[in-house]
Amino acid sequence: MSNRSVEKLVHARAVTEGAGVTAHRTIGTPALPNLDPFLMLDHFGSDNPDEYIAGFPDHPHRGFITFTYMLDGHMLHQDSMGNKGDLKSGGAQWMKAASGVIHSEMPQQSAGLMRGFQLWINLPASEKMTAPAYQEFSPEAIPVSSGDGVTVKVLAGRYADVTGPIKDPHTDVQYLDVTLDGARTFTHTLYSNRQAFVYVFEGEATLEDYGLPKHTLAVLGTGDTVRISASGGGARFILVSGRPIGEPIEQYGPFVMNSQAEIQQAMADYRDGELVQRKATVTAA
Ligand code: FE2
Repeated sequence: MSNRSVEKLVHARAVTEGAGVTAHRTIGTPALPNLDPFLMLDHFGSDNPDEYIAGFPDHPHRGFITFTYMLDGHMLHQDSMGNKGDLKSGGAQWMKAASGVIHSEMPQQSAGLMRGFQLWINLPASEKMTAPAYQEFSPEAIPVSSGDGVTVKVLAGRYADVTGPIKDPHTDVQYLDVTLDGARTFTHTLYSNRQAFVYVFEGEATLEDYGLPKHTLAVLGTGDTVRISASGGGARFILVSGRPIGEPIEQYGPFVMNSQAEIQQAMADYRDGELVQRKATVTAA
């Protein structure tokens, strides 16, 4: 058994998204344009409504999956196929845009804390033009493993004997929200065939000899075990992994395809009102 170390640390960069929402981006910046199969990671977190109230009015996606995990707050999702999703503190949404979705994500609060993550997960070429799909899970539907001061919310994949409800059949994403209550160590088996990263959002943690400060993404190196520790102040982080796709990536804003010609087609389809081609399948719990 060998422990995974840190291959790269990427500090978050503030970006403005949607109609004026402030987010902290790590994957999808010049320092880390992508991390196959992941295309973007935004952490939004503010108790100032000016930084989130404008939300994300109607916008398109094609060629990948958006995975939203709401830590605090309340957002309403509505899409071109008539789906309505209520995202509340602790809930999650996995939306396979695939051949095309137009949706909005709008805050349902005018004060208080809004905090969460949006991760973009790429799709293999064979899935990019298939029908969209949508999975949404309430906070109660996400199982928790806890003991010895280590609490793990299992959104996707498996930890100990707990399996998360969100199924990601294309890149087998595993998504854990881990809280270390004081000086504790979290250990997890994670084989080298999976790309993996850690993002600390409360407290501070260490991995091997590396300090993991808040709002910094750590890309993990090869190995088959992850060990993350906190000192007395504790820490909270997400640990996410997935199978790399290994195909060319062409991205233009919300369209991610394999070639320039496919990007041109996506832009033409959007312009001509033909981006949305197929109905989504919906799973909610
Ligand atoms: Fe979106």
